[in-house]
Amino acid sequence: MIHWIENFALDQKNTFGFSSNAARYVEISDEIQLKDLPLQNPSRPFLVLGGGSNMILPAVLDKSVISFTKSEIQIEETSPSEVNIKVFAGCKWHELVKWSVEKALWGIENLALIPGLVGAAPVQNIGAYGVELKDVLTKVHYFDLERREYCMIDQEECQFGYRDSIFKNKLKNKGLIYAIELRLSYKSNPKLEYGRLKEETTFFEKEEALKPIDVFKAVCKIRNDKLPSPEEIGNCGSFFKNPIITTDKLQRLKKQYPDIPYYTYSEELVKIPTAWLLEEAGLKGISIKGIGTYHKQPLVIVNQGGSYLDLVEFVSYIQTTIFSKFAISIEKEVNIF
Ligand code: EPU
Repeated sequence: MIHWIENFALDQKNTFGFSSNAARYVEISDEIQLKDLPLQNPSRPFLVLGGGSNMILPAVLDKSVISFTKSEIQIEETSPSEVNIKVFAGCKWHELVKWSVEKALWGIENLALIPGLVGAAPVQNIGAYGVELKDVLTKVHYFDLERREYCMIDQEECQFGYRDSIFKNKLKNKGLIYAIELRLSYKSNPKLEYGRLKEETTFFEKEEALKPIDVFKAVCKIRNDKLPSPEEIGNCGSFFKNPIITTDKLQRLKKQYPDIPYYTYSEELVKIPTAWLLEEAGLKGISIKGIGTYHKQPLVIVNQGGSYLDLVEFVSYIQTTIFSKFAISIEKEVNIF
């Protein structure tokens, strides 16, 4: 039996730190109980809450909210050098990373300190410092809320892209992810292409001497240096995606901004760091009515005591300013309900 609670406060369950009351809330601790959920009405979808690290909630949330809490990690050796792990959605992502580096397993050490739960990780294909979840993920187990069916899909079927997957598209609001499977390896495989990461790990003479925990520690140091901890100041990590533009457009922008940084995305497309656009537009470290951009990394919007409405206005101000200066639309990475 599952137990719904009416009028439930989500204040402690969203990292931006807004007060929010949900119409109904239920915690589910085992996948067996998922079939006790009522069939989802497509016009009134449930809200599946992970760590609340990627969503902005209104004061009154007229939704039935589901939280899946099982957090077990199962490990299976598939070869002398590789393991397959099945992790349930309620596990904290960073706890999983810690667990893996303590076992000297390579694969997710670059993804240390990403807030949120394991179940949310495939939705936006979390990524940092040259690694994305799609590089190690093999399977996703989800419960189809509209058919009340247990389903499983392979990596290829997840349609992963930059902060994108089938769970943001065809399966949006339909699939509740309850477990994922990853392939991790004991074989040394450090990914150090990201500039500062290389610097932080150069005190090791040889790359072969590096252990996953060394890379993990370097990533934690870099992130702690420039990203605010949600415990200290409400935030959702990167608020916007980095826009992808054509190389033609880049050439035009370069005439006016010769130093514009970019990363190759494909032959004809490049990714521009939103943090740079914001800084160039004078939007780094600003604050309006209690909502601001973080002074060390403007891609992070911080809650300094503003309201939901102030946040909505601030986001729109940022997007309009960037569009009028660079003719680039910056898309939100965070969900505003
Ligand atoms: N930059 C500035 N000013 C700043 C900060 C950065 O101009 O104050 C420019 C610099 O040119 C810098 C570039 O932006 O080289 C990139 O900055 P950074 O390495 O901090 O990464 P990012 O593109 O801003 C992305 C992810 C982060 C991830 C980092 C590291 C997105 C939306 N964000 O940020 O992910 O940790 O790369 O790989 O892709 C998250 O999604 O919540 C997140 C934190």
